[in-house]
Order: sequence, then structure tokens, then C-alpha cells
Amino acid sequence: MTQLFAVEAKGIEKSFGSTKALRGVDLRISAGQCLGLVGRNGAGKSTLVSVLSGLSKPDNGQVFFDGEPAPSLKDVEGWRLRIATVFQHSKVVPQLSVTENVFLGNIITRGKLVDWKVMREKTRTIIDEWNFDISVTARCETLTVEQLQIVEIVRALATGSRCILLDEPTAALERRAVDRLFDRVTQLVASGVSVLYISHHLEEVFEICSEVTILRDGKVVMTTPIEHITKDQMVAAMVGEVTTTGDVASGFSSLLHQPTGSQGVGTTQGLVIENLRVTSIRGDLDGISLVVRPGERVGVTGLLGAGVATLGRAVAGATKFDEGSISVDGVALRSGRRDIALKSGVGYIPENRQVEGFVANLGVGENATMTVTRRLATRWGFVNPQRRNNAALPWAQSLSLVTSGMKQPVGELSGGNQQKVTVVRSLISNPSLIVAVTPTRGVDVASKSLVMSSLIVAARSTGAALLICSDELDDLAECDRVIVLFRGKIFTEFTQSPFDRELIIAATEGISTQEQAAS
Ligand SMILES: Nc1ncnc2c1ncn2[C@@H]1O[C@H](COP(=O)(O)OP(=O)(O)OP(=O)(O)O)[C@@H](O)[C@H]1O
Ligand SMILES: [Mg+2]
Repeated sequence: MTQLFAVEAKGIEKSFGSTKALRGVDLRISAGQCLGLVGRNGAGKSTLVSVLSGLSKPDNGQVFFDGEPAPSLKDVEGWRLRIATVFQHSKVVPQLSVTENVFLGNIITRGKLVDWKVMREKTRTIIDEWNFDISVTARCETLTVEQLQIVEIVRALATGSRCILLDEPTAALERRAVDRLFDRVTQLVASGVSVLYISHHLEEVFEICSEVTILRDGKVVMTTPIEHITKDQMVAAMVGEVTTTGDVASGFSSLLHQPTGSQGVGTTQGLVIENLRVTSIRGDLDGISLVVRPGERVGVTGLLGAGVATLGRAVAGATKFDEGSISVDGVALRSGRRDIALKSGVGYIPENRQVEGFVANLGVGENATMTVTRRLATRWGFVNPQRRNNAALPWAQSLSLVTSGMKQPVGELSGGNQQKVTVVRSLISNPSLIVAVTPTRGVDVASKSLVMSSLIVAARSTGAALLICSDELDDLAECDRVIVLFRGKIFTEFTQSPFDRELIIAATEGISTQEQAAS
């Protein structure tokens, strides 16, 4: 007897030009199963999700639901009844309200009238279950990255679909929201729903998946019950043959400009923040004073809304500040002026790469060199594209960027590889201050250390000050100091590495411990 699977993909192939994204992928999800799907940046995970969601047609192979061939691509309704997807990149329409987004293309009507009341109530019920403070009538453009992610998840849950695909749903969520998502997923799975779960946080896969499929270069290398594999074995299968990444430190050093030595006398070098006050939906800042010296690496962390991302944004000129001052190497930055920050030597890796990180339809080379256009231009102001691409190429190679070439539009890259382009863009200008907000979001386990060491090495060898604003504690391991924000204020500071994760987590919750008090 052949077993029927809730979802079955057989021999899926998909190419984009010369890139073979999927090379004959087989995948099965049973009813009431949570299957993990892992693989490095560019392995083909999101491409498979778009095939399983009916958004793109495979070149070969077929998808089945409960043993029946999937509907034709034109039958949008047919697919929607089968599958609900939380896509890696936001599909929320910023101009619409939360409720409108949740029921987009799935409007509830009473007779001929749109039943807004019922839709608002349903939306509110789901958001309340999550214990989230999001107004159902808020326009989505006013929401934070995390709140947008919740809207996506609520939309997928609201369809009542029996199969849910989650492509990195937790990338922008903080711990408590992740816990609530997992509770929800566990309930759904127990009630017979099938879930495909993609994440670069492998410990999450161990937590909620019963089985895992590992993709490498568009092929399935392994499908195994979760208890038959360790995390190290999983990483080894994802990475495959260990390609020599070389000595990251020396690779980057040769690309970076060394410090010029004599710097202004009498001015305070590095980043100096005094009594900074900011009002922001991402969390206010309530009088922050902080100095980051040249070559120093300072991490800032805290719960969502504590002001961590706000701090990075204010320094980079991406958000306005109400009071206080920020200066870099003695030059005062102006509130909300990204252009002045850039001219003053601030390199910036933003939180939301889709919005602030790159221009999707421009090439990798052009995006990466955007901050150094002047330096690359001829006397007449002309920039040869080849010159841009040549400048970008060694950086791309050092970060092992997966791309078909420097001309490829960044919008075509996988999520983690898009993130690497924003990292190159921030470093290539030889900044005197690097502000990195959640720099490893969406980056695979093996590439995380590449991204982090590129930042650390840049700070060490060029004397740049480095400010890392992140809720990912692994990102902060190499810092000289870690500052914890709580409700917009500096709560405490850790100076002893290796840093104690538990103590830092406690501090983010506003709990001070004996050890801290003593130090
Ligand atoms: N529209 C497109 N045009 C050209 N190439 C594409 C397109 N979409 C995906 N690709 C390529 O297909 C490959 C697989 O990409 P995919 O987004 O599926 O990776 P992924 O496993 O989801 O990676 P990540 O972990 O970074 O999200 C990559 O090399 C990517 O550049
Ligand atoms: Mg992806």
C-alpha cells in the first residue's frame, strides 16, 4: 500500500538562466508532521517554497496534495485552499491596514457586502492569542519589522489551511514571540496540519521538527528523523566538502585601507553619543551616553522595544533624534541625515535589507559600490560599470557570495546573499565607524562567522569603531564590551569576555544579578 502524503514533491527541477536552483528535489510532508528544511544560503529552499506555493512552475517534476496532482498555476484559489505560506521576504502591502493585509485576496463577505467587522474580529482574536499589542486598523507602514512578521504569520494562520510553509518566520522575532509561534505550530501539528519549517537557527529545527530534509546546491543530501542526527552532522551535511574559506583575516585585511595615523588633535576620536533621546515605534531612547573608541568593538542588545535598533538607526542617520548629540571623529552628525552620516564615514548595515539595504533591480557590483561612487568616478564624473564590478568582486569572494556574477540584480539573490551585499556596501567605503544592526539575519550558520569576522577584522585592522546592535547574542561574542538596554536606557554593561549568556539574557529582562552589581 502506498502512503499518501499531505504534500509530496517529486523530481522538482528549476533553473534561472544558467543557475540550477533545484536539481531533482523529492520532499514529503505527512499530515500532522513538522518537517524541517535546512541548507546554506542559496541552496534552493525559498525556490522550493515558491514551487510548493504555486507561485512558480518547476521546469520538471510535480507536486501532489493528498496524492492528487496540484492545481494548475492559474488556479490561484485552488492553491490557496491547499497551502498557506509565510514568505521569507515581506509580502505585506504597507499602505493597507493589518486586517486588510490579513484577508488580502480572501475577503469575507455577507451577501454582497464586505464584512469588515468579522474580519477585524478574526484578526484581533488571532493577534490577542499571541498577546501582541498590534492594532488591527493600523496601517502596516507604521509597523516594526517584528510586527510585520507577525502580520504575515497571522495571515497564514487565518486561512485555516491544512498545510503551512514557514520560510524563516523567526528571523525578525524575539525569543518570546518565537515561543508563542512554536506553541501555535505544535497545536496545529497535533490537530493534523502539516508544516514545512525553514530556519538558519538549527536549534529551532531540533525543537519543533520531527524530521529534517537537508538541501545542498539544489539537491537533497539527506532526509532523517531529527533524533538520528546531531547539530554538527547537520552542519556538515549542509556544507558538504569543506571548501577552504582561507584565512578570513588576511583575506579582508588586504582589501581594507590601513589607518593613516595622524588624526585631528584635541577632538575625541571614534563615536561619541551624549544624552540621546529618540521617539520611535521601534523603541524610544531615553538619554543614552556612550563612547566607542577607534578599533573598539561594542555590542548593544536588549529586548524588542528596548531601543537597540533605534540606537543604530539614529547613529546612521536613518532616524531622527529629538535631543542630545552624536559625533564621529569630532564631527557632529545631524538628526536623521543619512547623507551626512555617510560623508562623515559611517558605514551602515540596516535592519531591513529589503527597504534600506539595496536596490533590487540593480546589479551586485553597483549595489556594493554605491557608497564609493565618487571614489570610482573619473574626473568627468563617469563611472565605468566594469570598474565598479572589479572593485566589488574580491569582497564578494571573501564573503563567499553565491551569485552568477557582479551584474546579477540583487533582487535575484537568495536572502542570505542579499544580506552579504549590504555588508560589502558598508565596508567598501572604508568607514571610520561601522554600525551593524542585526548583521547576520538570514545568514546561514557557516557564513555567519564570515560576516562577523569581516566586521571584526575591519575594526581591528583599519581602526574603525564598531557598533553592533543585535538581539543575536552570538553576534556579540567577539565584542570588547556588551551594553544592555532596558526601556531606552543603559541598564548594564558587560566587559568580561567570554560573556555569560544567561546573565545577559537576565539583564535584557531588567533583572540585575549579584555578579553585575559587584563588577
Ligand atoms: N528570480 C531569480 N532569478 C535568478 N536566480 C534566482 C532567482 N531566484 C533564486 N535564484 C537563485 O537560485 C538559487 C537558490 O536561491 P534560494 O532563494 O532558493 O536560496 P535559499 O536556500 O532560500 O537561500 P537563503 O538561505 O539565503 O534564503 C540562488 O543561487 C539564487 O541566486
Ligand atoms: Mg531563502
